[in-house]
Amino acid sequence: MNTNSTHAPFPGHPGAARRVSDRLPVFPWDKLEPYKATALAHPGGLCDFSVGTPVDPVPEVIQKALAAHTDTPGYPTVWGPLELREAIAGWLDRRCGARIDPSAVLPTVGSKELVASLPTQLGLGPGDQVAYPRLAYPTYEVGARLCGAEPVEYDSVDELDGSRVRLLWVNSPSNPTGRVLGAAELRRAVEWAREHRALLVSDECYFELGWEAEPVSVLHPDVCGGDHEGLLAVHSLSKRSNLAGYRASFVAGDPVVVKELLGLRKHGGMIVPAPVQAATVAALADDAHVAEQRERYAARRSALRAALEAYGLRVEHSEASLYLWATQDRPCWETVAELAALGILVAPGDFYGPAGGSFVRVAFTATDERVAAAVERLTAAR
Ligand SMILES: Cc1ncc(COP(=O)(O)O)c(C=O)c1O
Repeated sequence: MNTNSTHAPFPGHPGAARRVSDRLPVFPWDKLEPYKATALAHPGGLCDFSVGTPVDPVPEVIQKALAAHTDTPGYPTVWGPLELREAIAGWLDRRCGARIDPSAVLPTVGSKELVASLPTQLGLGPGDQVAYPRLAYPTYEVGARLCGAEPVEYDSVDELDGSRVRLLWVNSPSNPTGRVLGAAELRRAVEWAREHRALLVSDECYFELGWEAEPVSVLHPDVCGGDHEGLLAVHSLSKRSNLAGYRASFVAGDPVVVKELLGLRKHGGMIVPAPVQAATVAALADDAHVAEQRERYAARRSALRAALEAYGLRVEHSEASLYLWATQDRPCWETVAELAALGILVAPGDFYGPAGGSFVRVAFTATDERVAAAVERLTAAR
């Protein structure tokens, strides 16, 4: 028995050496809890616009595909059946204008999982930098910290240190701002990444949710010249198909990198369940449910936007995605508190970086009834 270590903390316990969670930022959502309690106490109930989680039913065509594949006792493969890879390649061609071989796509267990684990799976670590937009989905930073790389925020790729950045994230349409990068801006990022041999990974999980701008994929020939070397695109069915509960997503692009990830993920057992693989095939083959869901969101978006603006908030960007990025030119927590008193819960902009300190993010993923309730309260409070 090693008596010296009798009182040493177990791995994973507080105080243990190299405990990974000590490297991570504090999970910020706990800070919102008191405001949620205030909003919940509103006599008309909570209107929760804080999280971009779908609330409408899973389309029937997808539910049926899942239900038809419940009897799958054997292990599925990480790569999935050819039918799945062809469905992904077909969707990329049809919706993104990206010609890609089915061998250069890989299903993932929700894209958050990939975003958090990609720097580790690429072998990045201390001395490397992972760069992401100044206002961004927090998991890009988490992924960098998990592998010990340095997280770096950028406004323009030209301000980055090309000798250290190994992974460059772009995110269009953006969470939280809803901003869409045009083909020229994406081309510049691709040029920069190629010049410095950094892998450019484009998170395109809101691709089918453009309202006042048409998102462009990094895999489109106008952006990459038809060559996917050094590029990956990350896609998710969570938002387009109300499938956040299924964990259905994929990554596609540079065939060499996809093959490397496939090999590693086989060792790690990062497998999409077989019924979800089948549901993904059905979901990607059907554009009708996407059009229907878009109509719901478009109506909620315009009702909320008009009510927020009439109340006194200014909406910036927000031309795509599921969010309105809004400000009263005051600290975001003041706006969070003010809206919570009306029973309306929104996310403070500083969850996405200090640059968001005067903004709030309003997710229009609540039901029509909750959106109407919020519109009524905002209008009465003007
Ligand atoms: C920019 C961005 N990327 C990735 C994700 C993760 O999506 P999922 O894990 O549901 O595929 C989200 C979820 O909100 C997101 O906003």
